[in-house]
Amino acid sequence: MRGVSNIVVLTGAGISAESGVPTFRGPGGLWEGHRLEDVCTPEALADDPVLVHRFYDERRAALESVAPNAAHVALARLDRDWPGELLIITQNVDDLHERAGARRMLHMHGELKSSLCAACGDRRALAGMLPPGAVCDVCSAAALRPDIVFFGEMPHDMERIEAAVANCDLFVSIGTSGAVYPAAGFVRTARYYGARTLELNLDPTAGSIFFDETRQGAAGVLVPQWVEEMLA
Ligand code: OAD
Repeated sequence: MRGVSNIVVLTGAGISAESGVPTFRGPGGLWEGHRLEDVCTPEALADDPVLVHRFYDERRAALESVAPNAAHVALARLDRDWPGELLIITQNVDDLHERAGARRMLHMHGELKSSLCAACGDRRALAGMLPPGAVCDVCSAAALRPDIVFFGEMPHDMERIEAAVANCDLFVSIGTSGAVYPAAGFVRTARYYGARTLELNLDPTAGSIFFDETRQGAAGVLVPQWVEEMLA
């Protein structure tokens, strides 16, 4: 990894699996008993806002019973000690990266502990429950919804992400199945612009063939090892 100064890390549900947060595409393709289409689309929110809001209220409350694992802790250490540029892009809506201490990061698919105003776009920290019809502090519309990027919606911070991916020397993907775009395409962009690419995942993924190197195993083991290599 010599010559690397600018790192982009993409994380997915697999990095939180060892903390007890279920992945999306596990057996049966269910997430806590719901099909993603029923809780993660603009149509679902319009058809049954009570169900969708309650679903994310429950996921938010469940964060209290999970904690960062060794992989989150190792990435937070990389964030603290890496002298070059670093951006951790997570697709996860949990808050385990920041609870481990990571700061140079963003949530491209939104976050459970945030609300989004469907009228003015204001995003702000949220604790507790968010009933449908809650009023926005900024524009006064009764339009607050969970700050979750639903299927068919544009992920957050895409301009910043695209620039970071194009400019990095090393792109590392951790615990993501490569099934959801645009994140699944970042490896090809990074490669196109000359970055080295490394995948750390429990299983081979749809995107494995696009990486220079793939290491298979649990994030809680592989990520601390890789961070140790980077900081050696
Ligand atoms: P997936 O559930 O699709 O994939 C999780 C990946 O993590 C799989 O490839 C697993 O093999 C791997 N994995 C599981 N346990 C692991 C472990 N202990 N260590 C390392 N890897 C492990 O989750 P994502 O790729 O994150 O979008 O899914 C992408 C998006 O699809 C999510 O952000 C979500 C979902 O729809 C939104 O919520 C908008």
